[in-house]
Amino acid sequence: MINLPTHSFQQHPTPFYYYDEELLRATLDELNRQVASHPNFIVHYAAKANANIRILEIIKEAGLGVDCVSGGEIETALSVGFKPEKIVFAGVGKSDWEIKLALENNIFCFNVESIEEMEVIELLCNEMNCTTNVCLRVNPNVAAHTHKKITTGMAENKFGIPIDCIWETIERMQAITHLRFIGLHFHIGSQIVELNDFRELCNSANNLLAFLKERGIEPEHINVGGGLGIDYNNPEEHIVPDFKAYFDTYAKELLYNAKQKVHFELGRSLVAQCGFLISRVLYVKQGQSKQFLILDAGMNDLIRPAMYHAKHKIINLSNPLGTNEVYDVVGPVCESSDVFGNDVVLPQCHRGHLIAICSAGAYGEAMASQYNCRALAKSYLSEDFNI
Ligand code: LLP
Repeated sequence: MINLPTHSFQQHPTPFYYYDEELLRATLDELNRQVASHPNFIVHYAAKANANIRILEIIKEAGLGVDCVSGGEIETALSVGFKPEKIVFAGVGKSDWEIKLALENNIFCFNVESIEEMEVIELLCNEMNCTTNVCLRVNPNVAAHTHKKITTGMAENKFGIPIDCIWETIERMQAITHLRFIGLHFHIGSQIVELNDFRELCNSANNLLAFLKERGIEPEHINVGGGLGIDYNNPEEHIVPDFKAYFDTYAKELLYNAKQKVHFELGRSLVAQCGFLISRVLYVKQGQSKQFLILDAGMNDLIRPAMYHAKHKIINLSNPLGTNEVYDVVGPVCESSDVFGNDVVLPQCHRGHLIAICSAGAYGEAMASQYNCRALAKSYLSEDFNI
């Protein structure tokens, strides 16, 4: 059930992000409940999905680790109180200052994406007289059935070390003194709703693990990344993702032994459904061939529809029972791609009506910009409205 305090929004300036804290906690509880049946599984939250401090605090309290992709994310995670041993650092282009920051704080491990990066980390470790754990990010050349812009595990993607070069990389690492090879890392993409894509990832990982085992290497850690998708079309029905099916798939398909830890880096599936972008109707404008609903929220607040043709459910909070009309729902930004939805059927809207854009908790606030010199939207949790 979507449960928004519309009455409390009445006097509030828009646009803003609203997070349903109870739903976030319920999602995390369900996640922890499912993880509990798999003793080898460890979940990190992919902070890139939403690095709002208060959201991070709730996630930290739930006991998750954190997957960071920049020095800024590491600093934010540390400031919220994530323990360094629960922080992993991924990313295809780590700057020297970011590597040093991670080394100074003795984080759990680096997910290394190239031989070149491995050599720089070794150099900096030498300079700083320290050692670190390393997982190698494998590019398994596995397709994910998702938007092209969020596929990461194909040969043409910039991510990871080609699967055929992993052995060579491990051999080179063995000659290096400051890095400890502890595992493999994979991530094939985001918003994946076909569990079969994760099966393909398991097949590829199993082949590589068998190949390494023949050569006497059994990595302690296998990180399979994130990517579990959510239901953007029916958020009210599938408000908590099916973590059971997701973890069961890995438990069944991935061949790991009792000593190996399987790590997950989930972002979207933890935070997407608890977030809403709340906006007001500025104008209902009759165009030549379309009726436009012009909102005070724009693509700078939520870029997903413009960037990935993403569809977020849109609700008229002020007139839920009105007669239906068809609108192109757009923002005020000076770009034709500033569109939240074409031909959206909504109960009749008027100037001043409150509109909720659903499933906006992941890659919403986190990707907001100040394009057109627009202020960043503020964010609130349900407790701010005394709920
Ligand atoms: N691990 C790695 C290495 C990643 O690159 C990502 C996401 C994740 C974990 C978390 O994936 P998730 O569980 O959230 O699917 N801005 C896009 C999504 C980009 C995802 C980038 N990497 C969107 O709005 O759809």
